[in-house]
Amino acid sequence: MKKENLITAIDIGASKVCCLIAALPISKGILDVLGYGICHHDCLKKGVVADIKVLSEAISDAVYKAEETSGRKVQSAFFNISGTHLKGIPSHGEVVISDRDNEITKHDLDRVISNAKAIHMPYERDIVYSARKGFVVDGEKGIINPVGMFGIKLETELFLITAKISIIDNLKKAINQSGIGVEGYIISPLATSASSVSQHEKNLGMVFIDIGADITEILVFSESRPVFLKVLPLGGDNITKKIAEKLSLPEGIAEKLKIENSTIEDIKKGEKINVTVVSRKITISRAKLRGILISEYTNLFNIIKKELDISGYIDSISSGALVCGQPVIMDGVLELAENIFNLPVKIGHIMNLGSAPKPLPSHIYATAVGLLKMGSIVKQSKKSIFKMSPKNWAMVLLDYTRRLYTDYF
Ligand SMILES: Nc1ncnc2c1ncn2[C@@H]1O[C@H](COP(=O)(O)OP(=O)(O)OP(=O)(O)O)[C@@H](O)[C@H]1O
Ligand SMILES: [Mg+2]
Repeated sequence: MKKENLITAIDIGASKVCCLIAALPISKGILDVLGYGICHHDCLKKGVVADIKVLSEAISDAVYKAEETSGRKVQSAFFNISGTHLKGIPSHGEVVISDRDNEITKHDLDRVISNAKAIHMPYERDIVYSARKGFVVDGEKGIINPVGMFGIKLETELFLITAKISIIDNLKKAINQSGIGVEGYIISPLATSASSVSQHEKNLGMVFIDIGADITEILVFSESRPVFLKVLPLGGDNITKKIAEKLSLPEGIAEKLKIENSTIEDIKKGEKINVTVVSRKITISRAKLRGILISEYTNLFNIIKKELDISGYIDSISSGALVCGQPVIMDGVLELAENIFNLPVKIGHIMNLGSAPKPLPSHIYATAVGLLKMGSIVKQSKKSIFKMSPKNWAMVLLDYTRRLYTDYF
C-alpha cells in the first residue's frame, strides 16, 4: 500500500485545542482536510501553559477525534505560539563591505543580517521570526539580492519577533506528553493570517486582528511584510467577566448569557431574559446587557485603535482591517469596529479550503488551517532539500525562505 503523506496542525488556544489532519501535497493551493477534532480547556493563560498535564490531555483528545474522523494516525504536528510574551521589534543592520573591490558577497549579506539581529534581549528570550524588507546599497533602496553588486555600505531592515523560550518548551512538552512529535511551530497571527488574508491585501497594507479568549493579536502588513505586532492581554473572557461583575452573576452563567444573546444591534424596548442561578430565577434587562457589551467592545476597539496609531502604519493600511476569533461573530461588532478604527473592517474567512468531512467554521479553524498551509511549505522544502546534492541546499533554503516571506507571511 502506498504510504500517505500527511500533515497535522494543533492550534492551542486559550479556550480550545483544534486539530486538523490534511493530505499532502496541496494541489493548486487547495487544502483538503481529512480529519478534525476540538477539545475545550482552560489551562493556557495569555499563551502560558497553566497545567501541562491537563493541556496534554486536551491535545490528546483533539488529536484522537481528528484521528477518528480521518481514519489516520498522527505521528507529529505543527503547533502555534501566541501570548503577550511575543514582541515585535523593527531592527536595522549595516556593514561596510570587506572586499577590496567593494563587491558584495554572501558573507556580507550574512553579516548585515547578523548585525540587524544583534539586539539586546533578556536571557530568557530568543528571536523566533524575522522578516526582511530588502537591502539598501549606498543609500539605494529596494534591492532584493545585493550579492555580486558593488557598494561600500550595505544595510537592511528586519522585523523581528522575540518570544520566551521556556513558554515554547512547555508547549512542546505538552504535545510530546500526548505522544505526538513536534515538527515545528508557527507564530499564531502569522498562521491565522496565512489562512485568511490574501497576498494582494498584504501588498496593499492590512491590519489583521485576532480577538481570542484572553488575548488580542494585532499584526500589521505593509508592502506584503509584517511590520508591527502587538499582543494585548484582553479578549472575550474580559467581556464575560464584566457581565458577571455588573449583573452579579457567576462567570459560567455570564458566558452562556453572552453567547446566547450575541448581539449589540438594536433590540426591542423592555425585552427581558430569564436566567437560573442555583435554582433561583433572575430576570435581566436585555438593554442592560447590550449596554455592557457595547461599552466593553468599545473599550477594546479603542485600545486596538491606540496601538494602530502608535504603530505609525495607519495611513498605509489601504486594505483596511480583517478581524477574526470567536468574539467578532457577535452581531453588530464589525460596524462598531469600523466606526472606531475609521477603516473598512471585514471578518476573516478561510481561503482555498477544499474538501473536509464537515464544514469548518472560519472563526474556529482559521489558525489550524493556516498552520497546515505554512507547515506544508516547511515540510515540502525539507523534503526537497534532502533530495538535492549538498551544493544546491543553500539555493533551496534561500528560495524556501523567500517563498515563506513573500507567499505566506
Ligand atoms: N457567539 C459569541 N459571541 C461573542 N463571543 C463569543 C461567542 N462565542 C465565543 N465567544 C468568546 O470567544 C472567546 C474564545 O475565542 P477563540 O476561540 O477565538 O479563542 P482561542 O483561540 O481559544 O484563544 P486565544 O486565541 O486567546 O488563545 C471566548 O472569550 C468566548 O466567550
Ligand atoms: Mg485563537
